[in-house]
Amino acid sequence: MDLWTSGVAGIMVLVVLVLSSSFRAAGEEVCDAALVSSLPPSSFRSSSQLSGSHAPSFAKLNRRDGAGGWSPLASDRYQWLEADLGERTKVTAVATQGRYGSSDWLTSYLLMFSDTGHNWKQYRQEDSLGSFPGNSNADSVVQYKLQQPVVARFLRLIPLGWNPNGRIGLRLEAYGCPYTSDVASLDGGSSLTYSPSPALKRTFRDVVTLKFKTVRNSGMLLHAGGAGGLGLSLELERGKLQLLLRQGQASSAEPRRLASLGSLLDDQHWHRVAVERRGVHLNVTVDKHTEKVRVPAEFGHWDVQQLNVGGGPGLGPETPGRSGRNFHGCLENLLYNGHSLIDLVKQKSRQVAVTGNVTFSCDEPLSVAVTFPGPQSFLQLPGVPASSSGSFSVGFQFRTWNRAGLLLTFALPQEGGVVWLLPERGQTEAADPQSWEGSAGAQCRLGSK
Ligand SMILES: *[C@@H]1O[C@H](CO)[C@@H](O)[C@H](O)[C@H]1NC(C)=O
Ligand SMILES: *[C@@H]1O[C@H](CO)[C@@H](O)[C@H](O)[C@H]1NC(C)=O
Repeated sequence: MDLWTSGVAGIMVLVVLVLSSSFRAAGEEVCDAALVSSLPPSSFRSSSQLSGSHAPSFAKLNRRDGAGGWSPLASDRYQWLEADLGERTKVTAVATQGRYGSSDWLTSYLLMFSDTGHNWKQYRQEDSLGSFPGNSNADSVVQYKLQQPVVARFLRLIPLGWNPNGRIGLRLEAYGCPYTSDVASLDGGSSLTYSPSPALKRTFRDVVTLKFKTVRNSGMLLHAGGAGGLGLSLELERGKLQLLLRQGQASSAEPRRLASLGSLLDDQHWHRVAVERRGVHLNVTVDKHTEKVRVPAEFGHWDVQQLNVGGGPGLGPETPGRSGRNFHGCLENLLYNGHSLIDLVKQKSRQVAVTGNVTFSCDEPLSVAVTFPGPQSFLQLPGVPASSSGSFSVGFQFRTWNRAGLLLTFALPQEGGVVWLLPERGQTEAADPQSWEGSAGAQCRLGSK
């Protein structure tokens, strides 16, 4: 008995220790492990390096290896340093330090994150333009806690300012913790159908949360159907997410739009979606924006009998829905009332039927979209050295609402001229802002007259 109670006490102490080591306060998980210091040299890349001993792999906080940090060959705004964290990781803070024993440090920088190393998203604080304050000497560490944690595999730091009496010089650390998720890819012909077990019905309250990523501007994301064909669906339509009410037989009746959220969501970055229903009150959230909707009174006594993911009921490729398509892209952490549907598929649960080809990883297309959100935003690329043929070409697809936006400009110093590439009026009218149909290109011959 005594032994038993002391055993229980021992277990309780252990439980308390385990809880206190992984939780700081009120369920807040500790997520501040150093992520960069243990990476091998092959995980670092940079735009350039001043010498072998200024390589990017020496950019580790508080270390003095090599020349004591990374310095690029030239100190200008075209430099960057990249760390591959090995897998998608939750990043909560970053810290910078100058190059050891030098007058080389950054005074400001910006951060980019990526899942793949070729499709980057700039990190922006809510209240600033996205630049972070750097250091004021080579030794002290400046740590910056991110307002919103980021989930990414690759981190890229771009110096914006540096000591005017020195060069760009950097040692870096990032802090965070492992990120676990369930991911599935749908190929535009595939879908999942979840039937909640009868014991779970009569919920009154339903919560669906997920993240999605796609380059297709239209597709059926979710459809929740109940008795008599009464259903709600969430469809991506021309880059916006629509909440639609369907009554009667799904594919025949014209759906009613209850809400429309977001725009240009087909940008191949993750977007978070949450739908919460309590009786006739419904909140739909896309990223940071929430819309409150009142659904018709029938929904007061409505049960989700079937949840379709990636396509509607009977909305195979042969009987298209309103948007005409199944969803084509990646889904992550799809939860319905606390059940992970992707996990159920992996477990081969009979509650989820799979149509078509569903895979459990997220492959990305190699073409990458860039958004210029306002008239002040532009990209400036370093000059291209003329190839031996003395010519170069540029080509891209675009979509825009702006009839007169400058697409591209570059100087031709040998000709003493500047090239401006503007859409023609007819071309922007043809270039539907919602789809990638406009295209532009320029071909130039340099020097050789
Ligand atoms: C919708 O969000 C508000 C807070 O913005 C909350 O008070 C309300 O309970 C939510 N409604 C549902 C149905 O979750
Ligand atoms: C399913 O998709 C994967 C990845 O795209 C592909 O390799 C495989 O061949 C596909 N299988 C079928 C049956 O289409």
